[in-house]
This record gives sequence, structure tokens and C-alpha cells, in this order.
Amino acid sequence: MSKLNIENLTLIFGKEKEEALALLKQGKTKAEILKETGCTVAVKNANFHIDEGEFFVIMGLSGSGKSSLLRCLNRLIEPTSGNVILNRVNITSLGELELQQVRQKEMAMVFQNFGLLPHRSVIENVAFGLELQNIPEKERQLKAQTIIDLVGLQGYEDQHTAALSGGMQQRVGLARALANDPEILLMDEAFSALDPLIRTQMQDELIDLQKKMHKTIVFITHDLDEAIRLGDRIAIMKDGEIIQIGTPEEILTNPATDYVSSFVEKVDRKSIITAASLMFEKPTVAIFRKDGVEGCLRKMRSSGLTSLPAVSVDKHFLGFVYLKDVLEIKAKGHHTIEDAIIKDVPVAYPENTVEQMLPFIAENGRAVPIVDKETNILLGIVAQTSLLIETTGSSWENVTGNSIANLQKEIK
Ligand SMILES: Nc1ncnc2c1ncn2[C@@H]1O[C@H](COP(=O)(O)OP(=O)(O)OP(=O)(O)O)[C@@H](O)[C@H]1O
Ligand SMILES: [Mg+2]
Repeated sequence: MSKLNIENLTLIFGKEKEEALALLKQGKTKAEILKETGCTVAVKNANFHIDEGEFFVIMGLSGSGKSSLLRCLNRLIEPTSGNVILNRVNITSLGELELQQVRQKEMAMVFQNFGLLPHRSVIENVAFGLELQNIPEKERQLKAQTIIDLVGLQGYEDQHTAALSGGMQQRVGLARALANDPEILLMDEAFSALDPLIRTQMQDELIDLQKKMHKTIVFITHDLDEAIRLGDRIAIMKDGEIIQIGTPEEILTNPATDYVSSFVEKVDRKSIITAASLMFEKPTVAIFRKDGVEGCLRKMRSSGLTSLPAVSVDKHFLGFVYLKDVLEIKAKGHHTIEDAIIKDVPVAYPENTVEQMLPFIAENGRAVPIVDKETNILLGIVAQTSLLIETTGSSWENVTGNSIANLQKEIK
């Protein structure tokens, strides 16, 4: 279910907003509008939704409009036009008091520079939002303590935040945001100020926390690796515009523009691309008891393949049959392919990554059978060529040469 719906959201900085909006509608670029009106188009006609419990990442280069977009969600900045709908309530038309409620109860923000009160203790910082809501002290302390334990700050309750390391300060920032038990966490480059080791550790902890809390998280980063690690979906922004939204795998396998491609080319694809996206869903198969020896040979001949996955009539995966074995049993006068089926063939599941499927490359050049984990029904196959392309980054031409060599070796 959609938690947030963002409709036609545009944010323009500058005096001549109306004029800039009109030029935007005419299809003028951010640079042209700046030149003609002196206005900056920070967000351009954003349309998207964020699901309940989703970890949604916004990424893009500096100045692409990430922070502007995020701040429009809770109206820290007023959008120039468009709507932000939270649980069917139009945030953009709320009065000041109602908006205050939304910010306190429903959307909490975690900032890059932590935004803490330096002369207050950890627990006072965490309880600060509760204090603003006039929650009695005892209850405040209790709630704050629970969150402090959750984010791993126990023992630091009475320290002043200024004395803490960056990682610890950001835990306080996170704890303060969580103290009101908001439905949505807005995190603007929350980990960017941390050094790499601490940053990875905080990412891991946030992933763990999210498993327990099931919040809806909108997380900004300009780091693609971070986006891929954390995001269920990633929105990529350029010049105020969202140019692609998709799962990390969708973005890697199908980048919408050259700009997106240039982001993703350095990413280690092996750990992201899964069998599901490489899988060929309608492979030629030998059906045991339906295809006899002759039927199986016919299929091999017409498909030009020297090995086929064997399945039962109800599609359960049985193993592989090889041309040479089928010919051998034919010579012995067999009619069913039963004795030619090589059983105990290793299988993979749709969610397996290329990295996890690497051992299959050594498997005699045959395709990787992808089966349903519960039922063992054959869902499709991943060709060796696809695995080789993903692991070596070679072009089709090169790998096809390799795989032919493999096949030849196999037939010998
Ligand atoms: N208060 C402001 N007044 C005028 N222009 C602004 C203001 N804040 C941002 N901008 C402009 O809006 C555009 C988007 O800026 P924004 O800060 O949202 O980008 P960002 O993607 O968050 O960048 P960064 O990665 O550097 O944080 C930029 O062109 C920026 O110069
Ligand atoms: Mg920013």
C-alpha cells in the first residue's frame, strides 16, 4: 500500500516563480530557466509513490535536488506546486498546527550534521521531541531509554553529545527521530559525514533496525553503493528531475539513460543481479514419460542443443539428459529416457545472485536449472553465457566463442 504519494511536485527558488513555472511547462531546461528568470528549478514535476515499510533511496549528484525534494515532503520547504499525500491526507493543504503534528508524530528527520543540542546529554537529546509534546517526564525517560537501547547507546545516556564520536552522534540523531515512533523517517545524507568503516556499520545497523521496526524510510545519498545496499527502490535525480525509479537490480540491468549508466558501470554486478533476471523462462525440456527417446532426440535436433533439462509431466525438475547418453540407450533398444537422466544435478533458486551461481560455471558448460525452493518445479534456466557475461563483463561475441568451446569439450 502506498504510504506517500507525490503528485506533480515542483519546487522553484527565486522571485519569478510564475514565469519560471510557465517556462517549465513549455519544456525549457533548468539552465534556460535560470538564464531567463534567475530562478532555480530544484525539483521538476516529480510523480512517484513510496510504499508502507519501503526503504526508498533518492540519489543523484550534488545539486540534483535530493534535499529539496525531501524537504518538500514535510514542508520544511514549501513546494511551488503539486501535492504530497500521506495516508490519504494532503500534507500540502494542512494548516500550521496540523503540519506541526505531522512533523512530530508521523515524519521525523535525521540530518547529515546530526543537528543535536550539544550541551544536553544523550538522553535529553533523545527525549527532546517528547518534551516538546509535553509528555510527562517519567514516560519520556522510559521511551527514550527503550530507543537508546535499540540503537546501541546504552551506557552513554548522561554524556554530552558534543563529546561523542561522529558515529555515536548520529546514533543520537537516529534515536531522537525514532523516539516519537514516527511512521516515516526522512534521512538526508545521514551517514555521509562518517568515515567508511563506521558508515558501513551504521548501514548494517539501520538494516537490522528496519527489520524490527518496519518504518517507511526515505534516505538520501550520493553514494550508489550505499543506495544499493539499503534501498528497496532507488530514485535517480538529475537537474531536479527523477529520471529513473527502480529496484537496484532493475537500475543495473536496465539503466534508463546514459547518466544512469555512468553511475552504475562501476558497481559490482555479481552480488546484485539474480537468477530471476537472467533466467530464460521457456527452455526446451525433455518431459519424462511423455517424451520417449525419439521425442527427446527430436527436441535436441530442432533446438540444436546437446543437453536438456528433464522434468516430470507436472514440471518437477529431474535432472539433465545428454545427447550421447540418449544415443547410447537408443542403441540398447530403450524407449524411455529414464536411464539417460543424470540426477543429483545442483540447482539454483530465483533469488540466487550471479556470485552465488559462480560454482555452476565449472558444471560442464550446461545451463543452470532454476527451481522453486518449495516445490522443485523448474522455473527456467540461466545460460552459461549469461553467467560468463555478468562475471567477466565480456561482450556477447567473446563469450559466445567461449561457450561454443565449452560445448565442444562437452560433446567429446
Ligand atoms: N535555499 C536555496 N535557494 C536557492 N537555490 C537553492 C536553495 N537550496 C537549494 N538550491 C538550489 O536547488 C538545487 C537543488 O539543490 P539541493 O540542495 O536540493 O541538491 P542536493 O541534490 O541535495 O545536493 P547535495 O548533494 O549537494 O546536498 C541546486 O541547484 C541548488 O543550488
Ligand atoms: Mg542535499
